[in-house]
Amino acid sequence: MEDNNSKKVNMQQNHSTSEGVLKPSPIEFIPEDSTSPEVAFQMVKDETFAQTQPRLNLATFVTTYMDEYATRLMNDAIDINYIDETEYPRIAVMNGKCINIIANLWNSPENRTWKTGALGIGSSEACMLGGVAAWLRWRKKRKAEGKPFDTPNFVISSGFQVVWEKFSQLWQIEMRQIPLTDKQKTLDPQETLKYCDENTICVVAIEGVTWTGLNDDVEALDKELDAFNAKTGYDISIHVDAASGGFILPFLNPEIKWDFRLKWVYSINASGHKYGLVYPGLGWIVWKDKSYLPDEMSFSVNYLGAEITQVGLNFSRPAAQVLGQYYQFIRLGFKGYKEVQHNSMEIARYLHQEIGKIDSFENYSDDVVNPLFIWYLKPEFDNKANWTLYDLQDKLSQNGWMVPAYTLPANIQHYVVMRIVVRQGFTRDMADMLLGDIKTALNALNQLTYPTPSRIAIQKETKVESRIFNHASYNSTKK
Ligand SMILES: Cc1ncc(COP(=O)(O)O)c(C=O)c1O
Repeated sequence: MEDNNSKKVNMQQNHSTSEGVLKPSPIEFIPEDSTSPEVAFQMVKDETFAQTQPRLNLATFVTTYMDEYATRLMNDAIDINYIDETEYPRIAVMNGKCINIIANLWNSPENRTWKTGALGIGSSEACMLGGVAAWLRWRKKRKAEGKPFDTPNFVISSGFQVVWEKFSQLWQIEMRQIPLTDKQKTLDPQETLKYCDENTICVVAIEGVTWTGLNDDVEALDKELDAFNAKTGYDISIHVDAASGGFILPFLNPEIKWDFRLKWVYSINASGHKYGLVYPGLGWIVWKDKSYLPDEMSFSVNYLGAEITQVGLNFSRPAAQVLGQYYQFIRLGFKGYKEVQHNSMEIARYLHQEIGKIDSFENYSDDVVNPLFIWYLKPEFDNKANWTLYDLQDKLSQNGWMVPAYTLPANIQHYVVMRIVVRQGFTRDMADMLLGDIKTALNALNQLTYPTPSRIAIQKETKVESRIFNHASYNSTKK
C-alpha cells in the first residue's frame, strides 16, 4: 500500500508533469475530457486555498472549530440526505431531540413530547419560516374578520440582518424600519408602537445585532406590545431573531427574559452554526406552541414509503449538522456550553477593555453582551488622521487577521467601525498577539505623511456632507 508521503509526491508529480499545468480551469463549459482525480483535486484545492486562517478570521460568527470526534461523525454522515427519513429514521428523531433541547433552553411552555420547531440551513431559512408563520397567522385572522389582507408589514430596527430585507422582498411584506440613533443603539420599544398598525404581522427583535453585537430589550418590548394589543385589539406578536444570542443568553444570562417566558414571543430562531458550535449549514426555529405554526406550513409528503411531515424551504439537506449539534449537546452539556461561551465573552471583554485604552479608539458601547463588539476612531483623531480603519483592516490582514471595517446602517452610517467576533478557540494568547499587531500597525499608520486612498475617498464624501463610504472592496464584513 502506498503511504501518505508517496501519495503526496505522486499527486505533485501528476500535477506538475501531466495535463494539469497547461489546462485552464473550466469557466463556462464542462470540459470535453475527464481529468485524473489527483489533478482535479489539486486544481480545486489550489483555487480554494484559504486567504486567511479560519482561526484568525474575526469577521465571521460561524464555527471554525469542532473537536476530532465531532468532525469524524460529521464526515461519516456526509452522504446522508436528511429528508430520507425512512432510511434514517433515527436522524429525524435526533433532530426532534435537538429541537426539544433548544426549546427548553428558551423556556418553551409547550406541553408535548415533541416541541414544535424545524431545522434550517442557517438562521436565514429559520427567519423566513418565522416571518411566514407570522404572516399566515395574521392573514387567517384578517380573513376571518372579513378585513383586507393585502398590505402586510413587519417592524424591525434598522440594525436588521440582510435576511429580513430578503423576507420583505420575496414575500412582498413591507419592512418598517425604526432608525437606530447615536443615543438609541437598539430597538426603542415605545417608538416601535408608532410603526405598528392593523396590518403588522409581527415585530422582530434581535438578540445579537449583527452590526453592533448589542441586544434589543425584548422584555420591555413585550410589555409595550401587551398594553398596545389590549388597547387596539391587535395580536401583534414578536419573533426573536437570536441568530447569535440564542446560544449565549441561556448559558450566561438566564435571568434575562427575552424568550418564551414573554407573552408575545411566539417564535425564535438561532444559528446552530454560530454559538450553537456546529460547522456551517445549521439553523433552528422553535414556535412557542404548535398552534402558532400554521397548518399550511407543514407539508405531508409521501416519500420513499413513508408519510413525513416537512417544515422548511428546502427539501433535501445535509444531515451531518444534526449529528454535530446533538454530539455537542451530549459532549459539552450545559456546563460545557456555559464554559465555552463564558470564555469567549471574557476574551471579548478583555479585548474591548484594551481597545478602549488605545488613544485613537472609542468603543461604540460600554457593554459587551455577546462575544463581539465594535469601535471607531475618536472624532478628534479621525479629523486629522491620514488613514482610516479600512487601512488598519488591510494592515492586519498582512499578519493573517481578518478584522472587518464597515459603516453602520442607515441613520448612523457616519460611523466607520471595526468589529471583532470572538469564537470558541480564540485564546487570551491570540488576543494579545492581535493587540500587539494592532499597536504595531497603528505606529506605522500614524507615521504616514500623506492620506491613504481610503482617507482621500472619505474626505471627498465629507465634502458632499455625507460620510457614507461604501467602497465594496473595503466593506468586506461578513454578516
Ligand atoms: C441577527 C442575524 N440574523 C440572521 C442572520 C443570518 O444567519 P445565517 O448566516 O445563519 O443564515 C445573521 C447572520 O449573521 C444575524 O446576525
